[in-house]
This record gives sequence, C-alpha cells and structure tokens, in this order.
Amino acid sequence: MDAQAQSQDLREKFNAAGQGQVFRFWEDLSETQREGLLQQASEIDLSEVDGLYQNLVMGGAEEGQGLDGLEPAPYMAHPSKGGDLEAWKKAFMTGEDTLKAGKVAAFTVAGGQGTRLGYDGPKGTFPVTPVKQKSLFQVFAEKIRAANSRYGCSIPWLIMTSHINHHQTVNFFQEHDYFGLDANEVWFFSQGRMPAVDADGKIILEAPDKIAMSPDGHGGALRALVRSGSVARLQERGISVLSYFQVDNVLVRAIDPAFIGFHVLESSEMSSKMIPKRDASEKLGIFCVQDGQTKVIEYSDMPAEMQAETDENGVLRYLAGSIAIHVLDVEFVNRVGSGGEFQLPFHRAHKKIPTATESGETVKPEEPNGYKFEMFVFDALPFAKNATTIETLREDDFSPVKNAEGSDSPQTAKDDQLRQFARWAEAAGVRLEVDETEKPAFDFEVSPLFADSEAAFVTTWRHLDPKPTLEHGTYLE
Ligand code: UD1
Repeated sequence: MDAQAQSQDLREKFNAAGQGQVFRFWEDLSETQREGLLQQASEIDLSEVDGLYQNLVMGGAEEGQGLDGLEPAPYMAHPSKGGDLEAWKKAFMTGEDTLKAGKVAAFTVAGGQGTRLGYDGPKGTFPVTPVKQKSLFQVFAEKIRAANSRYGCSIPWLIMTSHINHHQTVNFFQEHDYFGLDANEVWFFSQGRMPAVDADGKIILEAPDKIAMSPDGHGGALRALVRSGSVARLQERGISVLSYFQVDNVLVRAIDPAFIGFHVLESSEMSSKMIPKRDASEKLGIFCVQDGQTKVIEYSDMPAEMQAETDENGVLRYLAGSIAIHVLDVEFVNRVGSGGEFQLPFHRAHKKIPTATESGETVKPEEPNGYKFEMFVFDALPFAKNATTIETLREDDFSPVKNAEGSDSPQTAKDDQLRQFARWAEAAGVRLEVDETEKPAFDFEVSPLFADSEAAFVTTWRHLDPKPTLEHGTYLE
C-alpha cells in the first residue's frame, strides 16, 4: 500500500470506530503536520482504547473493586528490626556472587512527566545533592560505577524514557560524558504511549495536528523492555537480574547485594522492598496478599479507615509501604512483556487534558475533562512465582523528590542525604554537631565513589591519611 492509501485507510478506520474527530483539522494541515498526526494515530489500538473506555470509564471497573479477602503481605524483617542476621548475611554473599558473575543490570524508569515538581525537564536531570548539586542521574551513575569497581563487573544501566523526554535525556548524558560510565553500557529506550479520551470515549486532540497522548505508565516498562530489544540484549549477555528503581529516589541503593541475594535464593521472579509506613495517611502503595498472590494496592484505592486499622499492639495492619524498588527476573519480564500469557491491567486517571478548541487553539481546562490510561509495574507481582518482599530502612533507601515543597521535596531529599552522610561519618568515629532530627549543622557531601554505604564509608575513612576536616562545603570523592 502506498503512503496515500495508508493514510486513507487509517482515517477510515478512525471514522468507522467513531473517532473521526482526530482528523477534523486535516484539510488545514501541512504535509509535515499530516505525517506527524498519522504517525501518532498509527500507534493507537482502537479496540484497546474502546475496551478501556467501556470497562474503566463506563463500567467503573476500578471503583470499590478488589479488596475482598485482602490481608497484609508477609515480609523478611531487616536484621536491625528482629530479622534473621544469618539469612541476611547469606543473601548478601549470594548477591555479591551474582554481581561478580555479571548477571545484573540496573533499570531506571524515567518516562514520567514530573508535573508535581513543576520542573521543566526530565526529572533525572534535577539537581539534588547538597554541595555539588549533582543531578539524580549523576548520583545513580556514580552508584553503578561504585558497584562496577567493587565487584569487577560492568553493569549495564537501562533507562526508560518517554516521547516527552527521550531526546533531552539522551542529550543530557552525552553532554556529561555519561558521568564516567561507558556509553555502550547505558541503554536508553522509550516507553509506549496511550491516547486520552473524553467522557464520551472520544480521543482528545490537543492541537490540530496532535493527539493528546501520554506515557503508558511505568508498567509499560515490561512491554517496552521486550519491544526495544533490551530483553534479547540482556539474555545474550547472560544477564538474568534487573535491579529496578524510580528516577525520583535519591537515596535508593541502586545495586543492593542483599536484596539481589534474597531474590536469587528464593527463586523469586519479582522481589520488592518495603518500609513501614510512617502513618496511615502516608501516600505509598501497600503490599497485600489476596488469594495467595502478592499485590500492591495503591494508596488511593484503599479506604482511609482500612489504612488506619491497627493490630492488638496498636501497629498499622497494612504497614508494608511500597517504595517502588524491585528486582525482576529477565525471563519473567520477557513472559509478561510479550503479552502472550497475561497482560498487565490498565488503570484510569481523571485529568485536566489540554484540548484543541474548534478554532484550533489549545486550552488547559480548569477541571478534569478526560481520562488517561496507565499500567503499573507492581501489577506484575500477582503473576510472579515466589514473589518475595524484604524490609529496608527508609533512611538507607528512600527519599523521593516528588513535590516542589513540603514532604518528598528537594528540601527533604537534601536533608535526608545530609543525615545519611552524618550517620556514616559518626559510624567512622567522626564527631559531628547535629540537630534534634540528626541533621548536621553544615552542608557536606559524600560521593558514591567515595562510599555508597555505611560499611564502605567506615573502610574508606579508615584508610584516609591525613583525614580531612568535615566542614561546610566539604566534598568527599
Ligand atoms: C509511586 C507508586 C507508589 C509508591 C511511590 C513510591 C504508582 C502508581 N505509585 O507513586 O505505589 O509508593 O511511587 O515513591 O506508581 N514513570 C514512568 N512512566 C510513566 C509513569 C511513571 O517511567 O508512564 C516513572 C516516573 O518517571 C517515576 C516513577 O515512574 O520514576 C513514579 O511515577 P509517579 O507517577 O511519580 O508515581 P507516584 O504517584 O509518586
């Protein structure tokens, strides 16, 4: 079929599906605009969109569903919280062996829009560290470099972007020389996208030549990993373990041997880290079990009174908060991402979607006017064999940058890093003045290349001669 016929055919399909409005400005568009619009339209599976509208919008399939028989999920307690120290040591060693054998890759999902932060750019480029103002991406790159040199391996780093930020992200790495990583070991790929629909199920046009499309959620990672050829590439390299984390979490232990070790020892297909929720209202997904399957129930999907339930000791029943850190088995990703056996469900989000008026101008509505559809990576958990959850310490693993101010903001991320550096220094015998929240009285910074854990800090510090004075602006590298 030639280009003309293809264009005609696609437009007819949209008409037949009652989605002809997508091409309502066709006559006014330039050749290039037409090509762009056709490209977007060709990515849309019209029957999938219709099915989602029928089920999730008309049918309200998500409301009040899925809570029957729900129980809190069990987890492996951290050794400092009564967990089995021997089991943790064994897991740590197994994880180290897995790393030394070159079987691990790191994976960051970075396709989100970061609307709440109000930052104009890919979130990974956001400056976060107290002294050097390093970006989130640089912090992760240095954590991976630290693991490479410790374990004598070369850990590929997979970064999922989206159509919104792909080029900016890749350019950022090029401009910064991949932060010292081998450029061939940083693998970018873009996730899929989905159109937004209005209350009548009509696909929304954002501009005369632009369909309102947004990334298909971090759950889209599984199919994007397969479609991009990344899974095949990993398998060729003999890599079986993916260390998954979100781009917003500055403290994440990007490569955590104990976590990887538990995953391997339990023959788990998908493992997760939990932290005890601070209080009932903390906005974290919650690990639960239902019909023998592990699940994360999103905070917005569990009634507040259920989240506030306590046990006989006054402890929250639904305590296990998800910090979106997982280890995934590559073959499992292949199975779920190929879509043959099972398909991740979509969730709907009611949003304010910029829309083209009849005169072709784009207006941002005051109220939600349409629905976006997203998949969540944790929805793969029920499909995973031996899904394993371990406890981690918030102060070692979780401080996300989500909001411009208040909780989970650049300020809290900076303070949490300072507290971590101060704890490590204290553990090495350095006396520091700290306030009642354990925050040091001045800003200093520890590069992951100097130390990426308390144990590493203590060892590196011990060998330093002479030892530097820690003061405002000190940077340990
Ligand atoms: C998320 C989790 C929540 C968890 C919390 C921990 C969901 C729905 N909720 O909340 O259970 O407790 O993190 O911090 O995920 N992303 C993509 N592509 C997309 C959408 C998102 O790559 O299409 C990435 C973002 O870049 C980011 C991450 O996924 O790295 C989280 O996305 P976000 O929408 O900010 O999730 P939260 O609502 O903060």
